[in-house]
Amino acid sequence: NIYYVGVDDRKTALFEGIWPIPYGISYNAYIIIDQKVALIEGGVKIDFAREFLNNVSSIIDPSTIDYIIINHMEPDHTGTIPVLYNLAKNAKIITTNLGKTMLANFYGISDNERVITVKDNDSINLGTRELKFITTPGVHWPETMMTYDKNLRILFSGDAFGTYGALNGKLFDDEIDLKFFLEEGKRYFTNIVGMYTKPVQSAISKLKSIDIDIIAPAHGPIWRSNKNKIIDLYDKLSKYESEPRVLVVYGTMYGFTEELAGYIAKKLVDNKINVRVYNADIIHPSYILSDAWDSRVILFGAPTYDGAPFPPVYYSAYIMFSKKLKNKYFGIFG
Ligand code: FEO
Repeated sequence: NIYYVGVDDRKTALFEGIWPIPYGISYNAYIIIDQKVALIEGGVKIDFAREFLNNVSSIIDPSTIDYIIINHMEPDHTGTIPVLYNLAKNAKIITTNLGKTMLANFYGISDNERVITVKDNDSINLGTRELKFITTPGVHWPETMMTYDKNLRILFSGDAFGTYGALNGKLFDDEIDLKFFLEEGKRYFTNIVGMYTKPVQSAISKLKSIDIDIIAPAHGPIWRSNKNKIIDLYDKLSKYESEPRVLVVYGTMYGFTEELAGYIAKKLVDNKINVRVYNADIIHPSYILSDAWDSRVILFGAPTYDGAPFPPVYYSAYIMFSKKLKNKYFGIFG
């Protein structure tokens, strides 16, 4: 009695307006039909309202929804809330206290009768099953929570344990190309959640006290056969565990800095050191950040441009700085 009503986004070039998603992304949402009906994740990005509402209506009349559960207020999950709120006229929205403030600020929804706030460990009964709410502030925004189906031991985890990549008709981790989704999961983590490593660690510790059979995130596949792989990935990345690897990130106008980058890479390889080389003029910082995250050493090479470091290299370095990437050796050359 759980239905997937999410959508694939294969038309947005840059997620959050920054990060390339050439293979798309999914906005997952779920309906649980019990004596009460609950819609988990609230909705999807507004651009996909028609498809989302069709998905919902193919399962159930929206006016019979009792609860719309918002784990996370970012508009990739709540863009459709204003539309759904009117259609599901008997539904109450469940969110955290801060989520309620955001709901009023973003969408002007502030009806105290219809917006219920929950705290950590609160639960609701749907009839034969109980949903428990686990607050996880900072994963990815401060209002965030997860929803746990105690009976089926399913964790609806919001952004946590999510990945880039459209699902293209498949849903579960044992149906998809696991290697691809773990790589896109790493890029998603570093790009989106990476700044919030402490909250991720707190959430992982908190989740150790509950039994989880299935993780149903808000992006990417549902983890039923390999859930430890995605938990381990998030755990390792949020601890800044690194590989013995040097990342050489350079930009070049006429090839001289590139010659230096090549020389350095060759010398490192001669010394049996694992090296990866990125031309920041061409490769988007999203990919460089993902590979930098678990490299032990990062070397930046840049020509001078208008009296400052060459902008493409500066941008890559700035993205690492803004994500508070740490526990690295950094070096510069030019
Ligand atoms: Fe998928 Fe932070 O929103």
